[in-house]
Amino acid sequence: MNAKGVVVKAGHSAYPVYFDRFRRRLQPLLKGSNSVVVVSNPTVFALHGPAFIDEMLDNRRYAIEPILMGDGERFKSQRTVNRLYDHLLELHVNRHDAIIALGGGVVGDTAGFVAATYKRGIHFIQVPTTLLAMVDSSIGGKVGINHARGKNLVGAFYQPQAVLVNPDYLATLGQREMVEGTAEILKACFLSDRDYLRTAADLPLIYEKKDQRRFAEIIGRSIRFKARIVARDPYDSGLRQILNFGHTFGHAIEKVEGFRRYHHGEAVLAGMAAALYLSSAMKLLSKRDRNEGLRFLAQFVSHLKPLSRQADHYLAPMAVDKKRTGETVICVMLEGFGKPVVRAVRSRKQLLESIKFMIEFVDKKGAL
Ligand SMILES: NC(=O)c1ccc[n+]([C@@H]2O[C@H](COP(=O)([O-])OP(=O)(O)OC[C@H]3O[C@@H](n4cnc5c(N)ncnc54)[C@H](O)[C@@H]3O)[C@@H](O)[C@H]2O)c1
Repeated sequence: MNAKGVVVKAGHSAYPVYFDRFRRRLQPLLKGSNSVVVVSNPTVFALHGPAFIDEMLDNRRYAIEPILMGDGERFKSQRTVNRLYDHLLELHVNRHDAIIALGGGVVGDTAGFVAATYKRGIHFIQVPTTLLAMVDSSIGGKVGINHARGKNLVGAFYQPQAVLVNPDYLATLGQREMVEGTAEILKACFLSDRDYLRTAADLPLIYEKKDQRRFAEIIGRSIRFKARIVARDPYDSGLRQILNFGHTFGHAIEKVEGFRRYHHGEAVLAGMAAALYLSSAMKLLSKRDRNEGLRFLAQFVSHLKPLSRQADHYLAPMAVDKKRTGETVICVMLEGFGKPVVRAVRSRKQLLESIKFMIEFVDKKGAL
């Protein structure tokens, strides 16, 4: 376990990510609070809420107020935000009080948006409980909700005071969610280094206490990587774009397959196969490296559902992808492990070939 933690620097703020001694870390952060609001959902709260409150919080110092929102992407909404504002106002929560998000990315993004906007911003602490939230959504300060017209269309940059990462929460997480989180870890590996990729590809999809160290180590590395990028581009105005490796194809998969059939992390996993193929088709990446990368993806891809076989169906949504400018599709590709490049792709043929390859790769469960 990495006892030192990580410091995430973003713009004018810096905040710690802790991997241990959570109770001791939390108390100073909650010192001035009369109320501590724990935002969670019924699934996470039933599994971990009471233990979190008993072990991490102190009801002699402040009132502890759990508020549950619905479980699922559709609850990352203005309606939920309004309900949360109503609760906070009823509880007379003020700017010295704190919101703790206990849950995955949906809870973290929504509670973070409420924390950013309620009374112009109140203290906010993230306690991510999914692998994806630990390595990705709780880091970097993007908070927000969905709109009827699309995902994450309303939001803010709002850094938490701290993030507490306890891999033990992963013991209750489903395999599908473990695959999704692993996809984001693999993405960070592709963008940073090959050795790290080898370690990540060995991660089990079922968490057991004995694996705590391994998970803490790889989660820590992923967070450090994202923190480095966020520090250089806190408001997502350039470099942070590389974190979209696999995402241009991934977003198209989510749209074609539907958000329920294909979750975000699953779509990114398949999307990275397409991005590797395209990188080598565009002569940026050697075939050898491409195949090595694909082999790392294979065992995780074997858990995915088959994709629709109509390659051009995926191309249409890519054309309206927010990363598209003019007549080109902007893709993050690799020139090698740890060497991402962002390129405008104009060749419809190369895009279609990459999509066809991805469909086959998923269909053959990652066999080359
Ligand atoms: N803010 C960012 O920078 C950023 C980055 C990536 C993704 N996101 C957002 O994150 C969201 C996805 O997050 P997610 O993948 O964590 O999904 P999620 O929050 O929906 O969680 C997935 C499922 O796992 C359950 N769950 C959570 N922790 C659990 C645990 N320990 N044991 C058992 N079940 C548990 C949840 O109740 C839910 O049903 C999306 O809305 C996406 O837009 C945000």
